[in-house]
Amino acid sequence: MNNNRTIDLHKHFNCSQLKIKEMEAPEERIRDHIPVIDPNYVFELNFLNHILMYLGCPLHDCLYLSGPSGCGKTSAVLQVAARLGWGVEQLTLSSRSESADLIGHATLRRGELVYEYGPLVTAMIYGEILLLNEIDLMAPGDLAALNDVLEGKPLTIVANNAELIRPHRMFRIVATANTKGSGDSLGYYSGARLLNQAFLDRWRFVELNYPSTRVETSILKKNAPTLAPALIGSLVRFAAEIRRVGAPDEEGKVQLGAPFSTRTLIRIGRLLESFPDLSPLEAVDLGFGSRLNKVEREYVRRLGEDVFGHDKTEESAAENGQIIAAAMQLAS
Ligand SMILES: Nc1ncnc2c1ncn2[C@@H]1O[C@H](COP(=O)(O)OP(=O)(O)O)[C@@H](O)[C@H]1O
Ligand SMILES: [Mg+2]
Repeated sequence: MNNNRTIDLHKHFNCSQLKIKEMEAPEERIRDHIPVIDPNYVFELNFLNHILMYLGCPLHDCLYLSGPSGCGKTSAVLQVAARLGWGVEQLTLSSRSESADLIGHATLRRGELVYEYGPLVTAMIYGEILLLNEIDLMAPGDLAALNDVLEGKPLTIVANNAELIRPHRMFRIVATANTKGSGDSLGYYSGARLLNQAFLDRWRFVELNYPSTRVETSILKKNAPTLAPALIGSLVRFAAEIRRVGAPDEEGKVQLGAPFSTRTLIRIGRLLESFPDLSPLEAVDLGFGSRLNKVEREYVRRLGEDVFGHDKTEESAAENGQIIAAAMQLAS
């Protein structure tokens, strides 16, 4: 049944640059399933445009968002849904995920065997968004259970007396992953699988990346509001610099063992805010450097010194060390 409510997206997102002007409003079926609005979330125009274009006009596709870890794929979908009042069924997949995790299973309730629907079926019935995180980690064989559904066909639940589930008009499928389903060429994302091309053919692909420096500046301002603007500027510059030097070389080999994500940037900002005695170099080391090997960690530290300057405390510690060493020499 069409409730004929439309949302004026330009007004709703206070943005006149959207490629889609309005869309049908989702029905408010299960309020608990609508994600909570994160007031610190900052929309990147490119992310927002692609997600809205898909949700408003899926054209029988599903949406596959690929991009580096922590660039905001999952949160962008949740925050768009939160603002539109659209229910989301979310599942993070792994190599151990099975089709029953998506469809459902029989379970005992008060001594009775009942069939409990999984997130796929719930989303199909109520017209919600099925958000499948890390889809490239799931075994292609188990993902095949989705094939018919991806094409907009009904689902037959064999294990529940062949119950037929028809997709609601507002049912949508969004997947997120670090790779495009063709394996991991960077060596960052162990466990990423080669997905079947027939499966991949059913998706609209959108490649995302870390937000622009302008957007990351406002993300940091919102998430660590008491930090000095100059420090926020330096942190964002440092993030851009580390991604530049850490980017894959001509042979596709990455220069650093871990990506510097927006999540990492927020963590470092919050560390600095919570521990005012921590220097930017110490916060960068705690929030990022310490997960790297020794050589890379030192390299990151040097880059940090170029952006933030040397640590005063460390210089004085080094000076103290020299004085002590000199005193010991004198004594001997
Ligand atoms: N545009 C943004 N505004 C505010 N926070 C963001 C933004 N992008 C990412 N984040 C934060 O960074 C973290 C990682 O984002 P997430 O969506 O989980 O990344 P991904 O799914 O790409 O790995 C989350 O805590 C999220 O709130
Ligand atoms: Mg994610």
